[in-house]
Amino acid sequence: MDHPLITVLPDPEQLAGAAARHIAAQLRRAIARRGIAHCVLTGGRTPLPTYRFLAQSPLAVSVDWDRVHFWWTDERWLPADDAASNQRAARAELLEPLAIAHTWVHAVDVSAPTADAAAADYEHCLSRWLGNRGLFDVVVLGVGEDGHIASLFPGSSTLMPPERRRVVVEHRAPKPPSVRVSLTLMALAAARSHVLLIEGKTKAGVVRQLCEPSHSDLPIQRLLALARNVRIYVDEAAFSHRCVSRPGWTQETWTQRPPTS
Ligand code: 6PG
Repeated sequence: MDHPLITVLPDPEQLAGAAARHIAAQLRRAIARRGIAHCVLTGGRTPLPTYRFLAQSPLAVSVDWDRVHFWWTDERWLPADDAASNQRAARAELLEPLAIAHTWVHAVDVSAPTADAAAADYEHCLSRWLGNRGLFDVVVLGVGEDGHIASLFPGSSTLMPPERRRVVVEHRAPKPPSVRVSLTLMALAAARSHVLLIEGKTKAGVVRQLCEPSHSDLPIQRLLALARNVRIYVDEAAFSHRCVSRPGWTQETWTQRPPTS
């Protein structure tokens, strides 16, 4: 496990800006080194200001988006135009404002006959573009109050999928909708960098648990145990000063407004 750097920001707006700058830098680095980048977007509401910042700030022209493959950590089993769809939100806040026209937008096919069929199709798509051992360049994640990531919930059998599966279906998610298609822990961990976004006082409890190694069974803790080059962006409302004590974790606190570019 790499040792995460936790950056504490005064408010959600500055969290979005700092996270967007880091994501853009990771994508530029991947493109410079390999001519292409694979970026995995999370669902939920936390990342939306970061997506907006990426699409609307000067950062928008700092990345060669024509060389970026977009994936999702998970998708809710809903029509693609449903207000609660993860892909709908990312298209509205990031892909459409960037006028992404290429076909390297790999959304879960929610028009498939079943979620299991969609998961098999996503597994095939991952193999086509990443082979069996390919790495994502950036995985953006939020975290639930219960410590779930993507659609991997505490105690679910999806945390122990059949050997080498990269995509699973959760049929009994405690966070609606109950049916979801999700990357597995192994798939999420197969990345050169992870960006975890945590915002708001409702997440203060899970941040405290993050800082206590004893809660190692939480999905987010299990990913952190596997991940490398992890950046955690947390606002003051969610931050717990206990994080300072976690061995090996580095913390920086931004109090002044960082640069805008
Ligand atoms: C989803 C997300 C999920 C999300 C967390 C946090 O489909 O709901 O992929 O994993 O990241 O539930 O959600 P918020 O950012 O809305 O708090």
